[in-house]
Amino acid sequence: MTTVHRIALIPGDGIGQEVLPPATAVLDAVGKRHGIEFRYDSFDWSCKRYAHEGAMMPADGLEQIAGHDAILLGAVGWPGVPDHVSLWGLLIPIRRAFAQYVNLRPIAVLDGVPSPLSGARPGEVDFVVVRENSEGEYSEIGGRMNRGLPGELAVQEAVFTRTGVTRIADYAFELAEGRRKHVTSATKSNGIVHTMPFWDEVVAERAARHPGIELVSEHIDALAAKLVLNPSRFDVIVASNLFGDILSDLAAAVAGSIGIAPSGNLNPERDHPSMFEPVHGSAPDIAGKDLANPLGAIWSASMMLDHLGHADAAAEVLDAVRGSLAEGGVRTRDMGGTAGTAEFTRALLDRVGR
Ligand code: NAI
Ligand code: MG
Repeated sequence: MTTVHRIALIPGDGIGQEVLPPATAVLDAVGKRHGIEFRYDSFDWSCKRYAHEGAMMPADGLEQIAGHDAILLGAVGWPGVPDHVSLWGLLIPIRRAFAQYVNLRPIAVLDGVPSPLSGARPGEVDFVVVRENSEGEYSEIGGRMNRGLPGELAVQEAVFTRTGVTRIADYAFELAEGRRKHVTSATKSNGIVHTMPFWDEVVAERAARHPGIELVSEHIDALAAKLVLNPSRFDVIVASNLFGDILSDLAAAVAGSIGIAPSGNLNPERDHPSMFEPVHGSAPDIAGKDLANPLGAIWSASMMLDHLGHADAAAEVLDAVRGSLAEGGVRTRDMGGTAGTAEFTRALLDRVGR
């Protein structure tokens, strides 16, 4: 029996266009072995579209993808279009309309990918950043006054709700149950006197419902330093939208390359499609040169398999990735090799098909 999944593809801009074909090729190859068929619908939503049509996506864009089982996104952003336009015109509307309130970012130092930290060894550094994805510091509330005048001012409000903090904390504690049972909560309740003490209180309340899990609260500045000095001590890190965003890029760098890092924007209730995307952006500096590392997109596709209920197939993709990196051989430039996107993808596909 074949399971059919409908997947919405949004390649986006720059290397987003180059990393999605390798990801779908891997999905098709592993799907064939597991009786899964993927039917893709591709959407040209991007800064290129913005330049022609004045919008990143059509007015009914969200309806067009609401019925898909999942969304696979490359990256959006291109010089000439302000980054807040591309982000708020596409990614943030999708995350919010589909209640993708968990942004899940696994980080691992993999055998064969050198970390810039001498102490970060494969097998030891393996943690997950659980980033709140729907509220917090990324809010539309605020404004600017007196533009261009000496008295010009800008106000940006952070929004934290009991519902929002509760559900992200619960997600983190439940995830830790199946891992090493340790949660670090990123805070800044010394300097930010309203929202962060509230975050701490709600996280501690939820922790009380998970007595088997150890909770440690760390101020974001000290946490950033510890992530560099001793990354192996972390298991699950739960953080607000902004803190989680910054920590996960830092963590991706610790793992050796931003080109590897995957993410999932999850709607845990499955009322709406979830969206999977590499952490990296559109990389205009290397776009169109066959230099992009497709692993971030491929690892994201593996997270999508997992979310769709195909844990075995998802693990097979990761095993192939780990195997091919550990073997040495073919790798892209950001991982210290010389191979292009196409050559690296071919080598990986050989392994997935085995
Ligand atoms: P970036 O992630 O695109 O690039 C940062 C650096 O990492 C560049 O030197 C790039 O060449 C390198 N790099 C990134 N991905 C790579 C890969 N797969 N293989 C090899 N090298 C890779 O971040 P940057 O330069 O800050 O942003 C560029 C554009 O992307 C901006 O318009 C930004 O807004 C957008 N962006 C979009 C994101 C998304 O769609 N989720 C996330 C981050 C940035
Ligand atoms: Mg980011």
